[in-house]
Amino acid sequence: MKKETIYPAKYLTGGLELPGDKSISHRYAMLAALAEGTSELRHFSGADDCHSTLDCMSALGAEVKIEKDTVRVAGHGHRGLKSTWRALDAGNSGTTMRLLAGILAGQEFSSKLTGDASLQKRPMKRVIAPLREMGADIRGRDDNFAPLEIRGAKLKAIDYNMPVASAQVKSAVLLAGLFAEGETSVTEPARTRDHTELALQEFGAALEKHGRTIKIHSLGRGNGSGAGKLTAKSLDVPGDLSSAVFFLAAASLFPDSNVLIHNVGLNPTRTAILDLFASMGASIQILGLKSSHGEIVGDLSVKGAELKGGVISGEQIPLVIDELPMLAALGPFTQNGIEIRDAAELRVKESDRIAALAENLRRMGAAVEERPDGLKVEGRSAGKLRGAEIEPRGDHRIAMAFSIAALGAQGPTVIRDAACAAVSFPTFYAELNRLAER
Ligand code: S3P
Repeated sequence: MKKETIYPAKYLTGGLELPGDKSISHRYAMLAALAEGTSELRHFSGADDCHSTLDCMSALGAEVKIEKDTVRVAGHGHRGLKSTWRALDAGNSGTTMRLLAGILAGQEFSSKLTGDASLQKRPMKRVIAPLREMGADIRGRDDNFAPLEIRGAKLKAIDYNMPVASAQVKSAVLLAGLFAEGETSVTEPARTRDHTELALQEFGAALEKHGRTIKIHSLGRGNGSGAGKLTAKSLDVPGDLSSAVFFLAAASLFPDSNVLIHNVGLNPTRTAILDLFASMGASIQILGLKSSHGEIVGDLSVKGAELKGGVISGEQIPLVIDELPMLAALGPFTQNGIEIRDAAELRVKESDRIAALAENLRRMGAAVEERPDGLKVEGRSAGKLRGAEIEPRGDHRIAMAFSIAALGAQGPTVIRDAACAAVSFPTFYAELNRLAER
């Protein structure tokens, strides 16, 4: 397992392009495979996770051609997927497994979905339960874990009140709704990212939003009797704000930093992190906003600033769920520290992120209180971080968050199993070394 050594930095400077947004790339790839014709997806994410989705869609009969970061997906319509005897491998990607479960539930064939050791430990009951209510036949280990066996069935529409605020669960039900008889609705307990809704509309599905309820119309049996269909599209994927956050945090740490991040996705269900940074005193400016296929895109200019810290809780949590590792690791650099509450979901991500954060923060000398649903990290008064050996537990966001903390620590830090960053950001270390002045 390759290690990466991160040395302290003086500041960060330069321009940066990020990989295409991971969430959007997954959705475009799946819907392109369900559309009729060839879609061109530009600036598609190079993340391992999104390539797991492409591999699955290809195994299901879509033709996928990859040329640098442009991906062409030729679909055969929403009734055009083919069964495969092989297990579909979602790798480390919860989004691939949960969204695909929704699509596979409505097919006329059976499939098997599997993933790596981490994914096989993550809860799937949250998608099994609503899909079963729609009539799907799904089996999993202990009725909750992958591998999943999905026997496609004739689905019926349901009105689903989601018990967890999860964009993945919402998306699984909406995607199954394309194949169900009638109108399926999903009501979320708190707002979550809405890329599935925007992408579905972009590809031609009929969808309505009423407050926190989203209603999707079935595409029908595809027999020409007035049924809807999805149409191939030519789309640009914006840069991934969740990847930008590591550089926003890094640049903020040093007064002399000046970083410009181009072409970042600024969908309002993702930008709560920018509001949080602003409330902590960060110096981040949004430049050149424009709209792109229903998504909003802009450049971010970030300079060094004194960060105040603060408490993150309640309905903020699902909106910054992927940014919490970076925020926690920033805690020791802030004036008042960082406290995260109501975030038990962090324990069922790519790793138990609460435990991973507490353990590695302590390795660097931070004062941390671990709680069932979050953690409290003391601010600057608890002392400067020191370089340490970090164990990311195979979790890309833990590896990257501690690489950033390492820039402001005393002495070098070693990230074990550093290559796991490629799950979302294959060029992370190269970009960090390019922008960091030492
Ligand atoms: C994602 C939704 C979030 C997030 C994950 C990507 C998505 O998961 O943590 O990285 O693309 O829908 P949940 O919706 O399960 O919280």
